[in-house]
Amino acid sequence: MKALVLAGGSGTRLRPITHTQAKQLVPVANKPVLFYGLEAIASAGIEDVGIVVGDTHAEIESAVGDGSAFGLNVTYLRQEAPLGLAHAVLIAREYLGDDDFVMYLGDNFIVGGIDGLVERFRAERPSAQIMLTKVLDPGQFGVAELDADGRVVGLEEKPREPKSDLALVGVYLFTPLVHEAVSALKPSWRGELEITDAIQWLIDAGHQVQPTQISGYWKDTGNVTDMLEVNRLVLESLEPRVEGDVHDSELIGRVIVEEGASVRGSRVVGPVVIGQGSVIEDSYIGPFTSIARDCRVSRSEIEYSILLSRSSIDGVRRIEASLIGHDVEVTPALNAPKAHRLVLGDHSKVQISS
Ligand code: G1P
Repeated sequence: MKALVLAGGSGTRLRPITHTQAKQLVPVANKPVLFYGLEAIASAGIEDVGIVVGDTHAEIESAVGDGSAFGLNVTYLRQEAPLGLAHAVLIAREYLGDDDFVMYLGDNFIVGGIDGLVERFRAERPSAQIMLTKVLDPGQFGVAELDADGRVVGLEEKPREPKSDLALVGVYLFTPLVHEAVSALKPSWRGELEITDAIQWLIDAGHQVQPTQISGYWKDTGNVTDMLEVNRLVLESLEPRVEGDVHDSELIGRVIVEEGASVRGSRVVGPVVIGQGSVIEDSYIGPFTSIARDCRVSRSEIEYSILLSRSSIDGVRRIEASLIGHDVEVTPALNAPKAHRLVLGDHSKVQISS
């Protein structure tokens, strides 16, 4: 069995963060979301992984390398344009050969991994196995319609009028039959070859498509609230560890201070992770905060937030429920008049409390 991991696409829903970073590398608790997927694949006993990459291929390749850090053997497959998930299967035809495979969307996060799912597929070997989860906004996903016996009868991609609240999660298991389905497809209204249509093709041809419902799922719906929430969930399960320097400070609960990080004169209430080379001084870091590497937080308070690498916060009280990008500087405006001074990139969102 192989895995096909999709790591192309443009990430419009997570702008502005994805203006400068592949969406699959957006960190959750200081680790790229894609890495959780690769770990889940390795844990399910799969070694050979084809990663489909697009414009951001250099960034993905430098983060994942040959896959050996994950115990995987990675091959990169270049998709010239984002022409759809089924198109990715099409270009991976030769790589996949006649093996069964799990297709894993690199921007999806599945709490608890995929061990059980892969085990069930291996045991029962339906033509396809899909995962479904209840969502509030089904119109942003592929949506499944089930009959009274729980069988999938129809699938629709981003429907205007969803027939259920069951969204297709971005992890699918296929036998080689899917190649036949994919080669029969025509582009959808959005100009893509949809994997949803390929699965519908299997259903229409009378093949078995087996659904499993899960909870504990996150995808980049462009909703920072969701991202903070998944960050919280992952932080809650981390083991505390202090590898950096801590002086005159109080660390409470699950706190990770990575190597080369320094915490001075501060109070840190976990769960919190402070990345390599970051400096925290005379500050308060509150629960559910991830601070990436090489950041600086001085004389400030921050809670329930994500700070990406090389950013600094100096003399600001208090930041909450925020996602702060790379190389950002947040400082107080020093002189009168009392005014906000902003330099915001395209697609930024700011809420000011005065
Ligand atoms: C894709 C699929 C959709 C699925 C979703 C899960 O959507 O087309 O059916 O529900 O992934 O992440 P996309 O990311 O292309 O909008």
